[in-house]
Amino acid sequence: MKDLLSVGDLSRERLFRLFTLAADLKQRWKAGRRAAPLAGRSLALIFEKPSLRTRVTFEVGIVQLGGRAVYLSGNEIGLGTRETVPDVARNLSRWVDGIAARVFAHATVQGLATHASIPVINGLSDFEHPCQALADYFTLWERGVDLASMRMAWIGDGNNVCHSMMLAGALVGASMVVACPPGYEPDAGVQAQVRALGGRLQVTTDAREAATGADVLYTDVWVSMGQEAEREKRREAFSRYQLSERLLGFAKPSALVMHCLPAHRGEEITDAVLDGPRSIVLDQSENRLHAQKAVIFELLGGSLDDA
Ligand code: CP
Ligand code: NVA
Repeated sequence: MKDLLSVGDLSRERLFRLFTLAADLKQRWKAGRRAAPLAGRSLALIFEKPSLRTRVTFEVGIVQLGGRAVYLSGNEIGLGTRETVPDVARNLSRWVDGIAARVFAHATVQGLATHASIPVINGLSDFEHPCQALADYFTLWERGVDLASMRMAWIGDGNNVCHSMMLAGALVGASMVVACPPGYEPDAGVQAQVRALGGRLQVTTDAREAATGADVLYTDVWVSMGQEAEREKRREAFSRYQLSERLLGFAKPSALVMHCLPAHRGEEITDAVLDGPRSIVLDQSENRLHAQKAVIFELLGGSLDDA
C-alpha cells in the first residue's frame, strides 16, 4: 500500500504492526538513540488549514528519523488554483520522498495520491483523520487497555475524527457507541464499512446512554475547520452533548477521556474534565509524533537496522 488516506486502507495486522513499530521507535528515541534511518529523505507538508499537532509532529518526526520537511501552505502553492492537484503531485514526486497533506476536501488528498508516485499521507481531510485514530488507539494499546473488550462512547459530531475512530475501532475489535444530535450522524457509508469489517457500532441521540458503562469517552469540537459559517446552528444543536463531569459520572469509574485537540473549552468539554485525572489528551498528543514516525518510516521504506 503506497498511501495512508483512510484507516480503511489498513488491515488489522498492519495496524498492530504500526503500534509495535511506534512503540519501538518511541523507546529508542527516549533511550537516547539518535540513528538516522531516513537520512537524505524529504517530506513535503501541504496544509490548507491551520494545525499545531499535525504540523509539528510530522515535521519533528521526519527530522528525528534523519530526514527533513518542506512546509507548503495551501495558499502559497495555490493548490487547485495556481496549479492543479495532479500537477502539484507530479512535480513533488520528482523532488521529495513523500507528502503529508491537510486538506478541505477528501478528494484533494485522493487526487494527490492518484497522481503522485510517492506515498501520500492524509493529515486530516473533511472526511477522515487517520493519523489521529492511529495515535489514539496506539495510546490505549500501550496503556494495556484490552481493545477487544472495551467500549468507546463518542459524544458529539459524527465528523472526520469520528469516522477514523469508528474504522480503527472495527479493526482492533473495540465496540463504539456514537451519540450525536439528529442530522449529525457519521456518514452512512462509513457505518456500513465498519459493520462489513465486523465492527460493533451503535448510533444514538442519547449521550447519557452512550456514556453509561463506557471505558473511554471521546469528544471533538462541534465546529470543525471549514464549518465556521454553521457555528451558531451547531452550538445550538450540540448544547446537550457536552462532556462534563456529570456525563463522565455515568461511565466506568476507570473510564478514560480522550480529545484530539484543539479543544473549545466550555463547549464540547469542560475544563474540569479536560484537565481532570481521567484525561489522557496529552498522551494522545505526544503519541501523534511516535505513531506518525512509524507511518513515515514504513511508507518511506526505513530499515530498523539503521534505526
Ligand atoms: N489533533 C490535531 O490534528 O491537531 P491540529 O489540528 O493542531 O493538527
Ligand atoms: N474535527 C476537527 C478536528 C481537528 C483536529 C476539525 O476537522 O477541525
